[in-house]
Amino acid sequence: MKSFYIGLMLSIACLASAKVLAYESFALNQDVRLIADFEDSDYGQWQVTGQAFGPGPAQGTLPGQMEVSGFEGKGLVNSFYEGDGTTGTLTSPPFKIERSFINFLIGGGGHPGQTCMNLLADGQVIRTATGTNVQSGGAEQLEWKTWSVSDLTGQMVQIQIVDQNTGTWGHINIDQIYQSNRRRQTVVYNKERTIDFQQKYLNLPVKNGAPKRWINLFVGGQQVREFDIELAPDEPDFWVYLDVSEFEGQQGTLRIDRYDTAWATGFDAITNADTFPGQETLYQETRRPQFHYTTRRGWVNDTNGMVYHDGQYHLFYQHNPYGWGWGNMTWGHAVSTDMMHWQEWGDAIHPDALGTIYSGSAVVDHTNTAGLQTGSEKPIVAFYTSAGGNNQWSQGQPFTQSMAYSNDGGHTWAKYVQNPVVGSIAGGTRDPKVFRHEATGKWVMVLWIDGSTLSIFTSSDLKTWQRQSDISGFFECPEMFELPVDGDPANKKWVVYGANGDYKIGQFNGTQFTAETNMIKFEYGNCFYASQTFNNIPASDGRRIQMGWGRGIDMRDMPFNQMILFPVTLSLKTTDAGIRMYVNPVEEIINLHQQHWDWANETVSPGENPLASISGELFQIKAELKPQGTDSCKFMIRNIPVSYDVSSQQLTCQGKSASVALENGKITLEILVDRMSIEIYANGGRMYMPIGVDMVNNPKSLEFATEGGDTLIEKLDIYELQSVWF
Ligand code: FRU
Repeated sequence: MKSFYIGLMLSIACLASAKVLAYESFALNQDVRLIADFEDSDYGQWQVTGQAFGPGPAQGTLPGQMEVSGFEGKGLVNSFYEGDGTTGTLTSPPFKIERSFINFLIGGGGHPGQTCMNLLADGQVIRTATGTNVQSGGAEQLEWKTWSVSDLTGQMVQIQIVDQNTGTWGHINIDQIYQSNRRRQTVVYNKERTIDFQQKYLNLPVKNGAPKRWINLFVGGQQVREFDIELAPDEPDFWVYLDVSEFEGQQGTLRIDRYDTAWATGFDAITNADTFPGQETLYQETRRPQFHYTTRRGWVNDTNGMVYHDGQYHLFYQHNPYGWGWGNMTWGHAVSTDMMHWQEWGDAIHPDALGTIYSGSAVVDHTNTAGLQTGSEKPIVAFYTSAGGNNQWSQGQPFTQSMAYSNDGGHTWAKYVQNPVVGSIAGGTRDPKVFRHEATGKWVMVLWIDGSTLSIFTSSDLKTWQRQSDISGFFECPEMFELPVDGDPANKKWVVYGANGDYKIGQFNGTQFTAETNMIKFEYGNCFYASQTFNNIPASDGRRIQMGWGRGIDMRDMPFNQMILFPVTLSLKTTDAGIRMYVNPVEEIINLHQQHWDWANETVSPGENPLASISGELFQIKAELKPQGTDSCKFMIRNIPVSYDVSSQQLTCQGKSASVALENGKITLEILVDRMSIEIYANGGRMYMPIGVDMVNNPKSLEFATEGGDTLIEKLDIYELQSVWF
């Protein structure tokens, strides 16, 4: 036993080339590598500048200083030498990172960049820590702190201790710096920081896959936010932000449920600033779609609250503002005058004690039926699911349906004080779609109850709702609207669908839907989900415009994730199979047209590529093709085939196929190409196939090819499209 112990001591002596630590905890801990314990009378190999660090390590408290505690042994770094007025630096010789953590004791001033200890690589600061004191009062106590450095293994680094502050708490205390595979920092539960909100953003560092922590923000004694976040323990993957402009001039208290090394670095790094990191390259990120809506930061799923009001299209969406994955459901908000160019207004509806904010819809209350109007502006009233139990705040609360409203055109939102407006029905009841039923002069809400059941509710005032009837066959995110058949206003039908878009057509009398069809498949792509249509589109426009979530379009390595599909116009047309919903991209796409190439009555033979000279990323392609004894023809879009097999009359892209019949020997195709998607509309909108596909590393080429025979291009128009962001 004894020789084993001595062996250990020896190996530590070799590892920690400086000297053997006198403490048993170190001696028993084989993995430590001492960097410095400041027990000598001078700083040895460390380089000293300025006066603040004195001729050598201090022996505890210095003249005029409050009693210093928490250091180990006799010596420590204490830059209170001759008071706070002195400045200087103390820099270690280079050493190699050979363990996962650097542990150290730190105390004194809490001035970032001025009273701090830095880790330097190539002269750059890659980690930094300060003491905790900034105002008079406080304590001269050193505490353990740990840097996670596993990502730096093998690198040469230096420690730099800085005192550049000459005011209150203008000094720094350090002791016992060592490498180890164990964290030394003690856990503090519900650790708080107060921040004076002077700037717009509270910036938070995120590392994908880091353990999640709960963060609460209190302002004026009230909890105003709660979210979980993969707070970066070291170098963040990206930064997210919380817009605190509404609290400007106030003090906020930020609380983390568990503060120790994994999270302390990230929690300490949260800062208030008037920009957010990465803002300078916003919308230029490699995978950023250039004419589809994506959020600046975080995750997006369902479209919500789509409503046209006063010349603006309002798009809300399920948003996780604080992470790359789903969570913290909040209503994000963007506004556009043409559905192409979107301006992100910031989050409109935030989680609260009733739950996180799940999907729902919005209406304009033209006649103030809810009595919520305060000025001359018509209120926009939003309905959403309060998803109880999804945050700590709402533990024990069920899912209910709530209301929020805006009296300033969507700029600011208030929650209805008597929420919820529809109480608990089944465990996951959600996604209220509300619209005005003109014929009965009532509001209608379609709500997904559970299983495959939707219920219809009606209301005169948006606040009290009566359940009227059920519809079966649909799962979450219900939508319901009326459309003329073949454009005939005298022949209108109602359409109902759920999240996957598959629909039934029928009659609706204001309380009950009667289906006249079986379920009809809506689309054939790989990413369509959870769409809805705009309420309140002016009659003079009359379109039924839908936008959905491009589900599963992963934005790898990006500070944002998922996208919203291109807006489409829905219409009902009579076909040989019965009435069908047609899907076409909105005509506002012409706002993005740039260079144009066109062909007419041109025969393409195998081996030819009429598009060989075209290069680009963003396209609208409109084609009318007549195969002439051809086996197949295809567009190769940045190396991704969109191919048509003539004998089976199947169109295929990325493993998804749909039948597209030759009509008079011809197929028509419209294809929208963005960096992460190919949206295909065939035969005038009869077949819709939105495809998510990452093409950013593919060549910027286009090709049209025919196999086994010629194809007659009756008409082909290709437009290069402009980015909506620049
Ligand atoms: C559909 C959905 C909705 C729900 C929302 C939560 O994607 O599950 O039913 O409201 O997502 O984000």
